Amino acid sequence: MTLRKIVQPLPAARILGIESSCDETAASVIENGRSMLSSVIATQIEIHKKYGGVFPEVASRQHIRTIYAVIEQALQQAHLGLSDIDAIAVTRGPGLAGSLVVGMNAAKGLALGHNIPLIGINHLEGHIYSSWVYSADTIQPPEPPEFPLLALLVSGGHTELNLMEDHLRYKRLGATLDDAAGEAFDKVARMLNLSYPGGPSIQAAAEDGDPTAFNFPRSRMSGTWDFSFSGLKTAVLRVVRKLEAEHRPIPVANLAASFQAAVVEVLYSKTMKAAEEFGVKDIVVAGGVSANRSLRETFLQKSDIPVHIPSLSLCTDNGAMIGSAGYYHYALGHRDPLNLDVLPTWPLS
Ligand SMILES: Nc1ncnc2c1ncn2[C@@H]1O[C@H](COP(=O)(O)OP(=O)(O)OP(=O)(O)O)[C@@H](O)[C@H]1O
Ligand SMILES: [Mg+2]
Repeated sequence: MTLRKIVQPLPAARILGIESSCDETAASVIENGRSMLSSVIATQIEIHKKYGGVFPEVASRQHIRTIYAVIEQALQQAHLGLSDIDAIAVTRGPGLAGSLVVGMNAAKGLALGHNIPLIGINHLEGHIYSSWVYSADTIQPPEPPEFPLLALLVSGGHTELNLMEDHLRYKRLGATLDDAAGEAFDKVARMLNLSYPGGPSIQAAAEDGDPTAFNFPRSRMSGTWDFSFSGLKTAVLRVVRKLEAEHRPIPVANLAASFQAAVVEVLYSKTMKAAEEFGVKDIVVAGGVSANRSLRETFLQKSDIPVHIPSLSLCTDNGAMIGSAGYYHYALGHRDPLNLDVLPTWPLS
């Protein structure tokens, strides 16, 4: 049975979405699955920059400091109180255990104290649903993605292709066998002495570079829908080591542009091949790496199949995506008990 067959029309509901799986403390109110009444994101990027990556204990402590203020602000921005909220959706996993627990406990406390249903959400599902979200003040809301669709999820910890026949139904076609695309951006940025997080730094450096300067390998993983980025990462490292050994300057812009071009080409070509093979109506590209300008332009300009990519502020972690996914679970009647555990490892399908 599909969601569209079970509940038609979909119910009116406002969902409070709470996200704390990594280094962003976020909350949002989503109306009817798509309309974003508010979104508040307290990022910890500046705190973790000095470590060159996320320091888990520091992250959970920072979530504790900010979570209630973030939730309160999200309700205030939406001009609503908890009595106007139909369900609280919270990220259950995957993510850092200590960080997840903070969001989960805050959600449970509010759910218990105000007698509001609780729904645990998969963070990856949230990323995909960020493509359904639009700002409440949008004059002409965009059409939602149509099923069947192909979702390319490209984030800091995941890179996978999922076929969706309907809401909340995922068939994983393939995934990275080693580094996630975002992880590759972060690691290559470190090699080039660019700041954390690596994606935006590589993108900025690549603006002045020649994407054809280095012909880095494109791992096609033929015969599968899987990805691999470790060979590409090692190829960049080899060039950097060689130049360093020869005491020659590192052409950061050209390396960044050539690396980015290789990632974008592999992600685009594989996604399009799968989209054609499975005859999908729409393509969704989501997750932190979907903020990449070159990736966005490539998909939006080249694909003949309609492509949905979240607005820039919704590509990386946010509460709106959790609220949106939460709404479709709510519509299906999903409710979780108040003893719900976090799941630091939790595949989508
Ligand atoms: N403009 C950009 N170009 C390329 N990569 C980017 C860009 N902006 C952000 N990223 C990358 O996106 C990643 C962060 O995305 P996201 O917040 O979705 O990941 P995460 O939540 O840490 O991981 P996951 O969602 O898999 O648990 C980082 O690896 C970052 O470098
Ligand atoms: Mg994420």
